[in-house]
Amino acid sequence: MADNTIFAELNPPPRLMMGPGPVNASPRVLNAMSMPLLGQFDPAFTNYMNEVMALYRQIFQTANRWTFLIDGTARAGIEAALISVLEPGDTVLVPVFGRFGHLLTEIAERCQARVELIETEWGTVFDPGQIEEAVKRTRPKLVALCQGDTSTTVAQPLAEIGDICRRYDAISFIDSTASIVGMDLPVDAWQLDMVSAGLQKCLAGPPGSAPITFNDRVADIIAARKHIEKGIRPDGFKAASGRMIASNYFDLSMLMDYWSETRLNHHTEATSMLYAARECARIVLQEGLAETFARHALASRAMVAGLQAMGLKVFGDLDHKMPNVTGVHIPKGVDGEAIRSDLLNDFAIEIGTSFGPLHGKIWRIGAMGYNCQKHNILTCLNALETILRLHKVRVPSGEAVDAAIAEYRAAGQ
Ligand SMILES: Cc1ncc(COP(=O)(O)O)c(C=O)c1O
Repeated sequence: MADNTIFAELNPPPRLMMGPGPVNASPRVLNAMSMPLLGQFDPAFTNYMNEVMALYRQIFQTANRWTFLIDGTARAGIEAALISVLEPGDTVLVPVFGRFGHLLTEIAERCQARVELIETEWGTVFDPGQIEEAVKRTRPKLVALCQGDTSTTVAQPLAEIGDICRRYDAISFIDSTASIVGMDLPVDAWQLDMVSAGLQKCLAGPPGSAPITFNDRVADIIAARKHIEKGIRPDGFKAASGRMIASNYFDLSMLMDYWSETRLNHHTEATSMLYAARECARIVLQEGLAETFARHALASRAMVAGLQAMGLKVFGDLDHKMPNVTGVHIPKGVDGEAIRSDLLNDFAIEIGTSFGPLHGKIWRIGAMGYNCQKHNILTCLNALETILRLHKVRVPSGEAVDAAIAEYRAAGQ
């Protein structure tokens, strides 16, 4: 028998997580997660499910009836969307501007779709005309792209994408994991058909739940593929003639029945994650969507001003920079990993490394969700300046924090 005395009490070290996500969750969210569990068909719980749907309609700025949670991390939302819409042989267009575009490609390939890629250099975005040209050429069933790709710290403008897709009869799917509530995403106004997200960035929650929304264009495709597993099939149910969705867990047709008055006994909803998602949305909506966007935009200006005042070069197309994460070039001759490790060990601050072509070239510094507060930006800049100096990088003393404070003062804070 195992000697349980060898297991210490869980006691994670205190951290200020200023990377590309996850970040520190709001204490309000952690508190919500510790609330007592309820049975999944308890009227009190189904009422919370309905409230979550109503809250996320506001977060996504949509009237879509089908707005709910997929249990799992953000990619669970992507998988549910793609596997429920795509059939083997369908064409998908993926405009790739970073690592997460490749994730969309990989998931679409696992759905056995035929993937058409267009790519742009990491740190840049597409002109909507380039996307339209590719849609016209490839005539996809679905166009899948990220709003913000944390791997490159830039965000693709999306205002025209929904309309382009409508004109060529394609479904638009947006992965908004990294950008949701960090910047505007009016799903209905931009005519986006299907959007998924995650909690662990600007929503100030933990990873593990993926809010999703989709309209009737998508619901119709899913209805044509509706099958229900035998043990829970209602009497008289007749499966749709379309191909059965290749995943049970991510079958949106069954999930729609679970989240509607039908209350199909599909999976057991992840109770504590639902509490978390509910509190994440309440926090944002209490602050106000516009105010939440503005808080992230101001933090971005302060972070950029501070890094530049230190003499560092900010990465990527600044006109399309994501507000909640900033890429910064690692100065020549500096060991980027050693700096990250000293920041963690000396200041308990985490900043991010990077992937693919940017690996070893940039750090990614996040300011999002609960961490997107003035004192955290200043603490992070101050710590980075100190560690760089200890690594013999010549940085002007105190100017980073002064420049960041100036941005806040200019905004009256
Ligand atoms: C844009 C984007 N999409 C998808 C993901 C994947 O999210 P998860 O790790 O929660 O599955 C991330 C995570 O950082 C992301 O930034």
